[in-house]
Formats: sequence, C-alpha cells, structure tokens
Amino acid sequence: MHQAALTLDPAFRVAPVQRRTFGTFVEHLGRCVYTGIHEPGHPTADEDGFRTDVLELTRELGVSTVRYPGGNFVSGYRWEDGVGPKELRPRRLDLAWHSTETNEVGVDEFVRWCRKAGVEPMMAVNLGTRGIEAALDLLEYCNHPSGTALADRRIAGGAKEPHDVRMWCLGNEMDGPWQTGHKTAAEYGRLAAETARAMRMIDPKLELVACGSSSSAMPTFGAWEAEVLTHTYDVVDYISCHAYYEEKDGDLGSFLACATDMEFFIRSVAATADHVGAKLKSRKRIDISFDEWNVWYLSRFQNADPPTDWPVAPRLLEDHYHLADAVAVGGLLITLLRHSDRVRAASLAQLVNVIAPIMTEPGGRAWKQTTFHPFAQASRYASGDVLRVEPTCPSYETAAYGQVPLLHAVATHDERSTTVFAINRATDRPMELRIDARALGGKRVVEASTLSGPDVYARNTADDPGRVAPRPNPDVRHDPETVVLPPVSWNVIRLG
Ligand code: AHR
Repeated sequence: MHQAALTLDPAFRVAPVQRRTFGTFVEHLGRCVYTGIHEPGHPTADEDGFRTDVLELTRELGVSTVRYPGGNFVSGYRWEDGVGPKELRPRRLDLAWHSTETNEVGVDEFVRWCRKAGVEPMMAVNLGTRGIEAALDLLEYCNHPSGTALADRRIAGGAKEPHDVRMWCLGNEMDGPWQTGHKTAAEYGRLAAETARAMRMIDPKLELVACGSSSSAMPTFGAWEAEVLTHTYDVVDYISCHAYYEEKDGDLGSFLACATDMEFFIRSVAATADHVGAKLKSRKRIDISFDEWNVWYLSRFQNADPPTDWPVAPRLLEDHYHLADAVAVGGLLITLLRHSDRVRAASLAQLVNVIAPIMTEPGGRAWKQTTFHPFAQASRYASGDVLRVEPTCPSYETAAYGQVPLLHAVATHDERSTTVFAINRATDRPMELRIDARALGGKRVVEASTLSGPDVYARNTADDPGRVAPRPNPDVRHDPETVVLPPVSWNVIRLG
C-alpha cells in the first residue's frame, strides 16, 4: 500500500471557488447542437425542440457557463444567418468541420436553451473572416434593450428581454493555421484590441477574453501571449488557454500525470501576463479563461480520412471515454481548482456528443460518459474557499514529465463542510491517505466516494450506462482520518 498524507487548514486559502470553473462548451460541430441539445421530434423534445433528457443531464452535471458557437466554427460564422424566421435561414458550408450548417439553431435558440438549463451564456465573436462591425452588431443584437434596428430585430424574433451576455471571447485560436482567417500575433492583437475597445463603447462592463495560444505546444507559445497582451492589456480581462490530452503509445503513467502539463501551462501564461503588465506599468491583473480543456484522442481524428462531402451534423469527435480518462479529467479539474486565484473561468470542451460527458443517440437514449462524474461531483461539492493542500506522497517516473507525485489533490471549505478531491495515479497499488484535520476543529470524514474499478479501460454505453460510476468508499477509518484510495481512482472525501 502506498502511504500519503495531507493537512487541511482553513487558513491556507487560495481564493473563493469560482463557479465559472464549471463551464462547458457547445460548438456547431458534429452532433453537439443537432441531435445533441436540439432535436425536434425526439420523444423528450420540448416546445422549442430541445431534448429535455439532455437538459436534465446538463443540470445534473452542474454546468455554470456555456461557451458558444465555437471553436473553429466561429471563425467563419455569420451570426445573422441564425436569427429570424427559420424558413428564411440559409444553409452554409462550414469550412472548419467540412459540414453543412442549417442554421436551425442560432443565438436566440442558444440563449433560450441556456435559460432552461440554468447556465450563463458565453459568446465568441468571429475575428477570422469578420471583424469589428459584425462583433458590434452581435453585441447590440444580444444586449441592447430596444429601439435600434438590431435590438428590435431580436424582439421581433421573440426575445423581448436582452440576452445580457456578460462574457465574450474575441475570436478563437487565432494562432492556429487551421483557423479560417488565422493571424500573426501582431495582426490579431491589433484587431482584438480595437474590437474590445469598440465593444466597451457599448458596455464598459463586459468581460472580454483575448485568444492565447491554441496549445502550449505551438511554436509561438509565450511570444504570442506577450504580443497579444501588449496590444490588448487595458481592454481585456482574460487571456485564454486551451489544452487537450490523450494516452499516447500505451503510456498510461504519463497520461494520468497530464495535469502536470496544465500546471506548467497556467504558471507560464500567468507569468507572461504579469511580465507584460510590469512592462506597461499597469496595476491591472489579467486572469485566465481556460476555455477549452479535456481528454481528446486528437491523433485518431487527425489520422482519419478527411471528409469528401458536406454532411449535416455528422458523427465527429465522438470519443468514448473510459475510467482512466475520467481520472485524468479529475486531475485536470483539481489543477483548475488549485489555481482558482488566477483561472477564473474554464470550459470543458464540449458538452454533448463531441468529446463530451453526455452522449445521445438520434431519436434515442442519452447517457453519462465516465468523465461526467468527476465534473458533476466537483461542481456539486466544491464550495466556499479553495484550500491549498501540499500532500506528502511517493512519486513515480513518467516519460513525459519526469518525477510526478502519485497523489494529486485539492480541498474546498465552507462553514458546513470541507471536501477533498484527490486522484491516485498509482496503477499498481491502493494508497492510504491520512488527513490531518485538527485545524478544522474535530471534523470527521462523513462520506467518501471513489470512481475506480478493476478495468481502467471500462466504458459506459447506452446499454450499460452505470458501469463506471462513483461508489461509496468503505475504506474509511477515524482518529486519524484515513481513507484508502484504490489504484487509478478519482475520490471525493467529505468532512463535516
Ligand atoms: O473543441 C474542438 C476544437 O478544438 C475547437 O473547435 C477548437 O477551438 C479546438 O482546436
């Protein structure tokens, strides 16, 4: 048995839990929108054609914000195509995903869906093929109460109240050569700054996100952030980070340690932003919007034959996650929480069918992937303040990141309860975790659950949706509080 220990002390406060850490992402990509959130004619569809089975799962997942409509899709999107009478909406080629976009769902439907799901919409504007004017028009259409052509067009479409979208992404992954209209850092920095400045003339209180690098592996990573922020520092609030991980060449040990890379990513971007702030003699701090993160078997997608036709809502990026993927996702969530002082928004990419925690069959069932569970539990139980925990535990050698601790953990605390979230990365043995809770005035472990099992590659399916799910952990002892974490597991330990 591996041995580990950690101390909980409410004095070691990182920051309040940011509810926006539990954001997700709905892109017009594959079956995320069509037959994902929206499927008129489905047995569970409501009067707007939204699948209520998916709405219920979205609520259970505990989603706070949803980024929309892309992703790569946004860089060729004309938002006007998706508003007004449906029979007049054009069908268009979507170059990002080589699909046909029907525009049956647009911004008004999306916001209506958000209200039903109880989530906050987060909008991205197209800075690929379009620019300042289209961004301003969309903002006015969404947020201006009434009395202008654009606001009155929204009202005529049935949305009397403004959508009141607070958070806006200034484009998407503009450093990526795959992005329609991708740009150099100087080109994008100028455009983002001028777009932000103009948007603030409509509403100075908007929260604006500049595009960071599309991954920390990009050749321009670091230099891109520095240049873009040099242009935009005064007019944006966040710089974005995107990261996807997968198990490569059967190297499970490195994969389970992928949060180490996310940790490095966050620290590097924060340091770069602070460097620019120092150069500009600014007291303002730029936060991080980690608005795309997940496990994604990207190499399988890249190795697949490119599409030759232009289908509507094809099956794209439909990864079926196993237990180890869920543990990796849990590790990434722990890292996001540990950095709550800097990462003030995040979006699991994506919500339904496309690299998603929720899967659907067209006309049929909806079910939870393995990755649903760590997200839902973290969203449900993380409350109050994030506490810094510095576990002592053995480490192991990984090909990708060198020595990595076997235990990765964080805790949150409010007057009612304290919760520890932890993954055991060991593949060989369980881990006995001692929790020193003396500073909590005698709180004891009242509940412990674990997501684990004999087969780390076990998956959930429509026929067997509960195969991988959290179960009560019976291995709890008191004085001192001790919990045994199974190998390759995601764990939630509640003290009260
Ligand atoms: O989430 C899938 C894609 O990944 C997004 O469209 C893009 O922004 C990223 O490269």
